[in-house]
Amino acid sequence: MKNASMILDRDYVIGRIDPRIYGSFIEHLGRAVYGGIYEPGHPQADEQGFRKDVLKLVRDLGVPVVRYPGGNFVSGFNWEDSVGPVEKRPKRLDLAWFTTETNAVGLHEFADWAKKADTEVMYAINLGTRGPENARDIVEYANHPGGSKFSDMRAANGKKDPLGIKLWCLGNEMDGPWQMGHKTATEYGRIANESAKMMKWVDPSIELVACGSSAYDMPTFGSWEYQMLDECYDNIDYVSLHRYYGNPTNDTPGFLARSMDLDGFIKSVVAICDAVKGKKHSKKTLNLSFDEWNVWYHSNEQDKEIWKREKWGPALPLLEDIYNFEDALLAGSMLITFLRNADRVKVACLAQLVNVIAPIMTRNGGGAWAQTIYWPFLHASKFGRGIALRALMRTPVYDCADYEAVPVIDATATQADDGSVTVFAVNRDMKEDFCLDIDLRAFGNMRPAEHILLHHDDVKAVNTEENPDNVAPTAGPGGTVDSGRAQVKLPALSWNVIRFEKA
Ligand code: AHR
Repeated sequence: MKNASMILDRDYVIGRIDPRIYGSFIEHLGRAVYGGIYEPGHPQADEQGFRKDVLKLVRDLGVPVVRYPGGNFVSGFNWEDSVGPVEKRPKRLDLAWFTTETNAVGLHEFADWAKKADTEVMYAINLGTRGPENARDIVEYANHPGGSKFSDMRAANGKKDPLGIKLWCLGNEMDGPWQMGHKTATEYGRIANESAKMMKWVDPSIELVACGSSAYDMPTFGSWEYQMLDECYDNIDYVSLHRYYGNPTNDTPGFLARSMDLDGFIKSVVAICDAVKGKKHSKKTLNLSFDEWNVWYHSNEQDKEIWKREKWGPALPLLEDIYNFEDALLAGSMLITFLRNADRVKVACLAQLVNVIAPIMTRNGGGAWAQTIYWPFLHASKFGRGIALRALMRTPVYDCADYEAVPVIDATATQADDGSVTVFAVNRDMKEDFCLDIDLRAFGNMRPAEHILLHHDDVKAVNTEENPDNVAPTAGPGGTVDSGRAQVKLPALSWNVIRFEKA
């Protein structure tokens, strides 16, 4: 068996983990809302039409924030369409996804769903076709206590108490030519700044996310961040990043190395934020909201066929990627990357949550089940809380098409407030098991508590409604701790969660 090692110390700390890095995303897209979280008439539907089986899977994931209602959708969305009596709400053509939005689920219903799911709403406003005036109005509607036009409208619509939405996105992917109301960096920076000022004048307690680039490989990446931040730095709190990966050439080692790109993206945006800070002589440090991340490519061809067949249909089954085992391994490495950057990444949203590029799938009228990527997310969300530790790693490396020196063992560690230590590790080797030596001496007397393993012999294995546990966690081989040194076996191609408790 090959070897890798990790040295941990209670004083080697990256930072406190913001629980919101385990956020997710529900867009009015495909069957995320209609047929996903909401399906009146389904045997599992509650009195509001929300699926209880889906709610349970979401609650188990421990998602602290859910971004809503888009996505590309939000750039043509009028929030007023989504409140008031359902029968009076308009049906609108959604130019982002070429479907028809019925508005049967709107802001009030989603706020109710979020409560049931034990999560908070992260609300995106439309800065594509709209601007500062509507931005101000929706904050007044959602958060002002009463005695004004929009807060009284909220009360008349059945919610006397403010919704108390704390985290707001200033539009979505405004750098992308596909976006309704696409803007230049300076145009966007100006409108984001003016919206931000007015939104915070209505409610100074809110936090705001400005749109960074929609991907690291956008031609405008870098200059977009610098120019838009030059306009709005003082009035915003976070910059957004979005990134999706695929494996269209069926190159598993290359695909699993994609978290190197993620790390580079994060580090570059941090550098640009700090450059603008320096230029402005500002005392404020901006943090990052990685509010869309995932694997996304399996459904691309299928979606083209759907649009050919039935453009404008409501709740078309779009972006329904069926995730395989290697996707779960990359998702694990992406989560490890967020933990390694926990000093600056304060929000991250797995895009999305149900049916649309999602860890949870449903069948209309049928079951709900966990996809492969559900598991690393659940483990990180459950055990990756507290302090992110700076792990010193020694591991063999490999080269692939796009990267050199990719660590074969991709690992990091966290310490929870109860003192327990958790190691998260992906073994990227296609064939070789590894023995990971973990130096825990600085933590005193620790004993092994649990080794959770996700492995399948077939990297393309998937979960289905009929076989939902095909790729599911099992108990790992575990290990020993001797004089503060643990030895744990990491099987070839595996996701591992290794937990230690005070002895
Ligand atoms: O998550 C799917 C889409 O991906 C979102 O609507 C958009 O923001 C991104 O391009």
